Amino acid sequence: MNTPGSQSFRAFRIHSDRESHRAGIEEMRSDELTPGEVLVKVAYSSVNYKDALAGSGKGKILRRSPLNGGIDVAGYVAASTDPAFKEGDEVLCTGSGLSETRDGGYAQYARLESKWTIRLPAGLTLRESMIIGTAGFTAALSLYRMQQNGQTAELGPIVVTGASGGVGSLAIDILTRAGYEAHAISGKLEHFDDLIALGAKQCISRKDLYWGQRPLETSRWAGAIDNVGGDMLSGLTRVIHPYGNIACCGNAASIDLATTVMPLIIRGVSLLGIASAGTARDIRDAVWQHLGSDWRPAHLDRIATREVGIDALPSVFDDLLAGGSSGRTLVTL
Ligand SMILES: NC(=O)c1ccc[n+]([C@@H]2O[C@H](COP(=O)([O-])OP(=O)(O)OC[C@H]3O[C@@H](n4cnc5c(N)ncnc54)[C@H](OP(=O)(O)O)[C@@H]3O)[C@@H](O)[C@H]2O)c1
Repeated sequence: MNTPGSQSFRAFRIHSDRESHRAGIEEMRSDELTPGEVLVKVAYSSVNYKDALAGSGKGKILRRSPLNGGIDVAGYVAASTDPAFKEGDEVLCTGSGLSETRDGGYAQYARLESKWTIRLPAGLTLRESMIIGTAGFTAALSLYRMQQNGQTAELGPIVVTGASGGVGSLAIDILTRAGYEAHAISGKLEHFDDLIALGAKQCISRKDLYWGQRPLETSRWAGAIDNVGGDMLSGLTRVIHPYGNIACCGNAASIDLATTVMPLIIRGVSLLGIASAGTARDIRDAVWQHLGSDWRPAHLDRIATREVGIDALPSVFDDLLAGGSSGRTLVTL
């Protein structure tokens, strides 16, 4: 095997335990990476909310320490002990323990488990696959699960919360591409024009929302993709049409959920849990195939609002956690 084991490279490495947190650029060698069959020369990674929590120490994401950050990675196979992959193959991986139990994508090399290594789908470049990354995969997984549970475009519009964020903006694009009418709820009025450009047919200010307080209010949408949690998700449960689905993706505002059984037992509304990191391999493959073809986001260049190296990560994390950023940040290695 042609492993460049002794060659040193740069990594954004996180040391995090109960007592202390530090993260920054370090030199390491590929034989120091967590084990796996497929050594990848990394081309791109991205910044997700979870990366910001892990890298800043504001959330307990790492389950061992130290680790390289970055829950997403895309690049070229440098060496593989699994004959399914050969040198030069273009591959990607999202979630699957990256920056949680194994070294992630914020480094010039990553060593992946072949069972979680995805061949780059036809229809996407490595760069595009990382503009999509975990955020777009999560948005597409939401639609996949909603459709499996009976959602169709004919049932009516789908509302997306936290719409200017990574998952939100990709959800608007993907829903539109898949033939759905997408509505956006956002706290950023200045981004309404961008959301309309992605395909949103209506933009609603988060600050102007009033749901009413009854367990069931007049229904407004056929389904929802929620990135926010708390009062937003509680409100959504009261206003979804009969047999609609709510994909529960995130907790940008809160982990709380206060609702009643009424939407479930009177309207047959379903609350679907979305956990992208642990998605089974067959579903992972199916979702990436959609992302490279019929659900391929049409506005990836518009959604990629920033492109940075690993040195700039700390300031990107601060912006993201302050709720001030929009779209996706691509990381170039
Ligand atoms: N389930 C999964 O597998 C999975 C995967 C990826 C991400 N997530 C979760 O999904 C959420 C979004 O992730 P992301 O990467 O898209 O993050 P992001 O880019 O930071 O987007 C989050 C968006 O939520 C809105 N928001 C932020 N703070 C808020 C608040 N206090 N109240 C209401 N809205 C607020 C903002 O959008 P507006 O200003 O437009 O409202 C913000 O842009 C996060 O909670 C993340 O942990 C889950």
